[in-house]
Amino acid sequence: MIIKNNNTFHLMGRNVSYIMAVDECGNLLHVHYGKKLADRDYSEIRKNRSVWAAYDEDDETLEMSAQEYPSYGHLDLKAPAYSVVNGSGNSIAQLKYKGYEIRNGYAPALKGMPSLFVGDKSAVTIELTLEDKIAGIRAVLSYTVFDEYDIIARSVEIINMSDTDIEVERAYSACLDMGAGDYDLIHFSGGWAREREYFRTPVTQGTRTDISNERGGSGHVINPFIMLAARNADENEGSVYGLTLVYSGNHSSTVECDQYGSIRVMQGINPFMFGAKLKPGEGFQTPQSVLSYSDKGIGGVSRALHDVFGNNLCRSKWQHKDRPVLINNWEATYFDFTEEKLIQIAKRAKEAGIELFVLDDGWFGKRNDDFSGLGDWYENRAKLPSGISGLAKRINDIGMKFGLWIEPEMVNPDSDLYRAHPDWAISVPGRAPALSRNQLILDLSRDEVCDYIIKSICNILGSANIEYIKWDMNRPMTDMPYKGYNHKYTLGFYKIMDAITSAFPDILFEGCSGGGGRFDAGVLAYMPQIWTSDNSDAAARLKIQYSTSMGYPVSSISAHVTAVPNHQNGRVTSLKTRAETAYMGAFGYELDITQMSDADFETVKAQVARYKELRTLMRAGDFYRLQSPYETNYCGWETVSKDKSEAFVFSCRILSVANSRDRRVMLKGLDASASYIDTACGRIYGGDELMYIGLEPEYAREDFSSFSVLLKKL
Ligand code: DGJ
Repeated sequence: MIIKNNNTFHLMGRNVSYIMAVDECGNLLHVHYGKKLADRDYSEIRKNRSVWAAYDEDDETLEMSAQEYPSYGHLDLKAPAYSVVNGSGNSIAQLKYKGYEIRNGYAPALKGMPSLFVGDKSAVTIELTLEDKIAGIRAVLSYTVFDEYDIIARSVEIINMSDTDIEVERAYSACLDMGAGDYDLIHFSGGWAREREYFRTPVTQGTRTDISNERGGSGHVINPFIMLAARNADENEGSVYGLTLVYSGNHSSTVECDQYGSIRVMQGINPFMFGAKLKPGEGFQTPQSVLSYSDKGIGGVSRALHDVFGNNLCRSKWQHKDRPVLINNWEATYFDFTEEKLIQIAKRAKEAGIELFVLDDGWFGKRNDDFSGLGDWYENRAKLPSGISGLAKRINDIGMKFGLWIEPEMVNPDSDLYRAHPDWAISVPGRAPALSRNQLILDLSRDEVCDYIIKSICNILGSANIEYIKWDMNRPMTDMPYKGYNHKYTLGFYKIMDAITSAFPDILFEGCSGGGGRFDAGVLAYMPQIWTSDNSDAAARLKIQYSTSMGYPVSSISAHVTAVPNHQNGRVTSLKTRAETAYMGAFGYELDITQMSDADFETVKAQVARYKELRTLMRAGDFYRLQSPYETNYCGWETVSKDKSEAFVFSCRILSVANSRDRRVMLKGLDASASYIDTACGRIYGGDELMYIGLEPEYAREDFSSFSVLLKKL
């Protein structure tokens, strides 16, 4: 619901209020974001003024005011939400309120970029127009309230109202002036094979923290999701704010704490190397930033994000369907396979109950290692005598679905495509572009390049019964030819994704980028699941999956059981722990199943059957993190069905400790007055008992020992 009360705009979710007001000088000020308040006129805002700050002839200063979309250089000198070089060559600006429009049942579709849609939920949008007449700039701030989840999605369009060209140098999608308070910043940083590690640091006066990425995609290094948590907030209690950018290019989230301890948080496209020139009348659209507030701690924010991303982001038919258990040949064979070897793997996998066979890298062009072939999207008949369509048929005849790996945004210098179109790779004049994994990136800002990709990939997808695609992207972006290039590339990526996913709506698409290097809500708008990390060691995955779940739904987390010693870090963990860890997500295997012992094979069979029993619950339930691997010697989580009739609980003790007692696992989200049965041993517990006394897990006397239980309500 959105209420206008005099000069107050009040956005209400079920439990939250977001309040703005226009002051007597026409500034759009921020009043409150947090726990729900009553409908009142909040526009009487106490003015703070210091003779040491800048003020104008009306005695107006903004340095100490909370603002919705702050300008720079006139009445406020803090980092602004936007910066535009106007026709006079300066960037001084001051936006004033002009008007508003409220639209019920509406969420804006952003031109060329993914965003949340209304679907069958209730949503209402307010568009507030601000204008700077002197600079000739208009900003339309859009806020969509999804009241059921207490989610507010924000974006901005900046329009050139002058009669000269202007240049947008920065345009954040959202700004939150939170006032003074004791908050911690939570962000997710890492690298290849250790994506999205959790970091929590106090926000202190006088600091400006830049959680930004300029490596091309959203990246392994910094994820476009942050949280601000009240100092006393934890997983279950306390005020926490989440901001997630629905964007896959260079991004920035900043947290500034000024001399008064007031905190300004912003999120949007990274201003570094950004620029958009606007002719008179033209506009620049920012991506969407999704805001979530909960007084139920980090877990409250996560569950709201899981629900809104699960229901209102991805239009794939697979979003609400159970995902097939897959086997992928990458770690089984790497590039070294024959058609017959693949068939052997598929046959054995079928016996274990696995449903989808995925052929990874190496099936096209002259691709026998990572030095050649990218761009040549035709099958390698030397390796696959039956071709892709013949292989797909053979896999289907075994009784499995067939899936394929592609990396359409890339080209190897050693490829027919590059020899024919060397100018299609991103480069700057006079400089050979830098290589990474021996490959270059195609210039997706050019229509003919996008058209080639769409056509060549559609050709393959139409040529065989392909029911799953793993869309990879294996390098950072260098040699960007001009300011604003990365955004144009990102729009090209979305154009291609849109064309291909719309042309093949039945295919299940999985995102990938050297593991989880492009795990963001922009990708999730097209592909309901993403390969979370190339590191599938169970102990490493505890941390990776635990922290990834803070911002993204469990259904989007692709998780595989791989061989030991693990190919990335050499660790040995039990087959039990590897599978139980991977149950949290879209589950599969990535090992040579033909080489397994009979005993291990029987275990795999049982694991596949177990996952089939769990997968609807894991995909559609409410997720609770119970024990943090970042803070304890355990990692635990639980999924509870929305109707609380069943729950799956997982816990892993990371290192074995002699002569010690293990922590109980305190469950969450159950019906306290109901009884639940442990489906394995038949023991009956009260819901209150499970939540307030907890479960006493039995771990094996070894490192990385896991335990799981499926509980059903009686
Ligand atoms: C990187 C991916 O993360 C891997 O799973 C695999 O598909 C390779 N690329 C193939 O080159």
